[in-house]
Amino acid sequence: MSSLFDPITVRGLTIPNRIFLSPMCQYMCERRDGVPTDWHLVHYGARAAGGFGLVVAEATAVLPEGRISPEDCGLWDDAQRDAWARVVDFGHAQGARMGVQLAHAGRKASVFRGHPGAHSGSVPAADGGWQTVAPSAVAFPGLATPAELGIDGITGVVDAFAAAAARADAAGFDVIEIHAAHGYLLFEFLSPLSNQRTDLYGGDFAGRTRLLIETVDRVRAVWPATKPLFVRLSATEWVDGGWTVEESARLGALLAAHGVDLVDVSSGGNVLAKIPLGPGYQVPLARAVREAGVPTAAVGLITEPAQAQAVLDEGSADAIMLGRVALREPAWPARAAAELGNPDLARYPAAYWRGRWPDVVVQPERG
Ligand SMILES: Cc1cc2nc3c(=O)[nH]c(=O)nc-3n(C[C@H](O)[C@H](O)[C@H](O)COP(=O)(O)O)c2cc1C
Repeated sequence: MSSLFDPITVRGLTIPNRIFLSPMCQYMCERRDGVPTDWHLVHYGARAAGGFGLVVAEATAVLPEGRISPEDCGLWDDAQRDAWARVVDFGHAQGARMGVQLAHAGRKASVFRGHPGAHSGSVPAADGGWQTVAPSAVAFPGLATPAELGIDGITGVVDAFAAAAARADAAGFDVIEIHAAHGYLLFEFLSPLSNQRTDLYGGDFAGRTRLLIETVDRVRAVWPATKPLFVRLSATEWVDGGWTVEESARLGALLAAHGVDLVDVSSGGNVLAKIPLGPGYQVPLARAVREAGVPTAAVGLITEPAQAQAVLDEGSADAIMLGRVALREPAWPARAAAELGNPDLARYPAAYWRGRWPDVVVQPERG
């Protein structure tokens, strides 16, 4: 049984606690060059200062056409690498470990950014949109039809993941998470609903998982053996005929055999589905994958410290990823330490020490 505030050592990396910032796109590269900005420094810096053990930066495209929106971050060039290095250095200075999610958005690329008031749907070419690619020329409902990737295109994607991984290492990141969830390119290959190929990269389990396994192998080959590699997976599509929990568990074991250290277990996103949303609704999926013998992180509507601790206590996961609650509460770990009865476990920057959570609820300062 491990506590939220117990360190976790993965390969050569010790992460100071099990509270991880879930990757969340900011869509804030206003220049549309994929280079992280001051926004990213402040956003990730605040959560590193807020006590997260591991900060996983958002879906970061390995190729320009792999961006979800034109405002996404990238790691396909060296200017992006250098800008990320500044974010990583600041996070390290706050005592956090820093990760990045490497991604290709496939048929869900080239859409308007998910900000309030923005247009929705595919970005037209005249507004900076581009032709999307996918395992098969099957559109996500409401989006433009992708072009089927040829073998050269597939090779190019794998090469791009490896090149981005090398840049992530040079930028100083401690962890890479490969994004194979939510209906983006690598997941599109896993699902028989989006992958209708009849070549080596489609068909049975081995065919549909081939691209992800090749990507993992190539990333692992350039990513130092001392550094952890995670994969985010949608463990179910919540519809009949889609990718299943049983396949996820089988894939989890296979990924572990290929050098993946943790599977970050999410769900859905590839097709329209009725998802049974509720507190911790994806935790049983994390447990099912963990039972196949690979460490997992649980994510999804985990918002309260006691709830997060219970997920670890019951053995469903090895770490907790927090998404939206961390947008509104950058120092969630400090509140968690206090609510779980041990405020001293929180990590505070010296400049914030006077604002630390108390042992007991105190009266307002007087005098
Ligand atoms: C603004 C926003 C951006 C997101 N971007 C990503 C992303 O880049 N990569 C990813 O895997 N998930 C992304 N997600 C999903 C979250 O990482 C998380 O899995 C999801 O929000 C459920 O966790 P929560 O209930 O704690 O928010 C995003 C979610 C939000 C709210």
